Amino acid sequence: MSSVSDFNPLAPETVECPYPFYAAMRREAPVYQVPGAGFFIVSRYQDIEKVLLDTETFTSKTGPGVRKEPSKEVMEILSQGWLPVDTLLTNDPPSHRRYRGLVNKAFTPRRVALLEPSIRTIANELVDAFIADGQVELVSQFAVPLPLTVIANALGVPSADQAHFKRWSDDAVAPLGGMITPEREIACAKSTVEFQRYFAAKLDERRTAPQDDMLTDLINARIEGETPLDTGEMLNILQQVLVAGNETTTSLIASAMLLLLHNPEQLATVGADHSRIPNCVEEALRSESPVQGLFRMTKVDTELGGVTIPAGSRLVLMYASGNRDDEKFPQADGFDACRANAKDHLAFGAGIHYCLGAALARLEAKVAFETLLGRLHNIRLAEDKNDYLHTPSFILRGLKALHLEFDQAAAA
Ligand code: HEM
Repeated sequence: MSSVSDFNPLAPETVECPYPFYAAMRREAPVYQVPGAGFFIVSRYQDIEKVLLDTETFTSKTGPGVRKEPSKEVMEILSQGWLPVDTLLTNDPPSHRRYRGLVNKAFTPRRVALLEPSIRTIANELVDAFIADGQVELVSQFAVPLPLTVIANALGVPSADQAHFKRWSDDAVAPLGGMITPEREIACAKSTVEFQRYFAAKLDERRTAPQDDMLTDLINARIEGETPLDTGEMLNILQQVLVAGNETTTSLIASAMLLLLHNPEQLATVGADHSRIPNCVEEALRSESPVQGLFRMTKVDTELGGVTIPAGSRLVLMYASGNRDDEKFPQADGFDACRANAKDHLAFGAGIHYCLGAALARLEAKVAFETLLGRLHNIRLAEDKNDYLHTPSFILRGLKALHLEFDQAAAA
């Protein structure tokens, strides 16, 4: 059994398979000060939950996370657009309360539920495109385009512009993992400005010609006593929706499929009774959390898990580790699509920053599996094509590719 000190948290082999490292931390050093890295990792469920619910002691204004401060060149490019404002993810009360209250008015349960028919149409069209082949690379042919097309449609981006939309989404996420070159960072900054100009124009269109969509809801969102969102604030929120919503949902769909294929008896159970899909999605979120962890910073000296943490220290809340904590989830390393408390996972966070898009992500995954399991028969892994590698990132986890084969084609 390896010990915590045997692992370098940022080494490619740890990032590729982090679970033994998480287990060692939970066992030996649940609040672990990573040597030379300048942050602590919180790995047990209870401690993570405690931090999430205590915004007095722990702030979400943590600076750039694992990435470096942007270079002068990157800042110059960004200054040609709307400079970043702390709205949701990187904000604290009371200001967070205003933004979240206003944004909730555009992400209502009604707005999400209204998307279901279009999610189903998109999922079926994607399956139509490969079903006759008897094989598919699920990530690029289904799990990437589904959430992108859903959110692009919801935001009123015409299909001709959706290729840009994919690039903007990738370029918004890339700097977060801490593993990109300076040249790529410059390209990502240019992409941010392009994205902002595109949506600033869309917002202007909605101001003169309102529609029944999320952009119009954002413009019209009002809370008594609060000023409405201005353009820079709305652009920041839209960028967060891209960052937080696409790659994560893609990863969920791909990992849930792999987990089911590695557990054929559960695939049979869920396939025979689609009412089990929602719980299976929760279990996949628990078992292979797309957001492995996120940062917080201590505002004051504090104590957590028996460790004294000075004010101004950065913490990584390792949600994926809390989700594998046997104290909370018995036999947590196993995958049980019918696990009774699967929904208690921390994959969407908890407290005031609880994922804004959780209902949308759940709905997309539910419809995705109803469609895939309903239409593809005898799904199996194309063993000779798969390497099961993940995109290298300390905070996001997702399969690069998942090649499948299947026997029969069924009509939609
Ligand atoms: C499986 C898919 C998803 C996962 C695993 C996920 C995960 C998370 C997590 C862990 C947080 C909490 C952040 C924190 O504690 O600081 C969060 C917040 C957030 N998510 Fe998601 N997310 C997903 C899908 C989405 C989607 C589809 C959207 C938008 C359409 C979205 C938008 C957001 C936003 C805007 C926040 C910030 C909320 C706030 O700070 O108040 N997410 N998400």
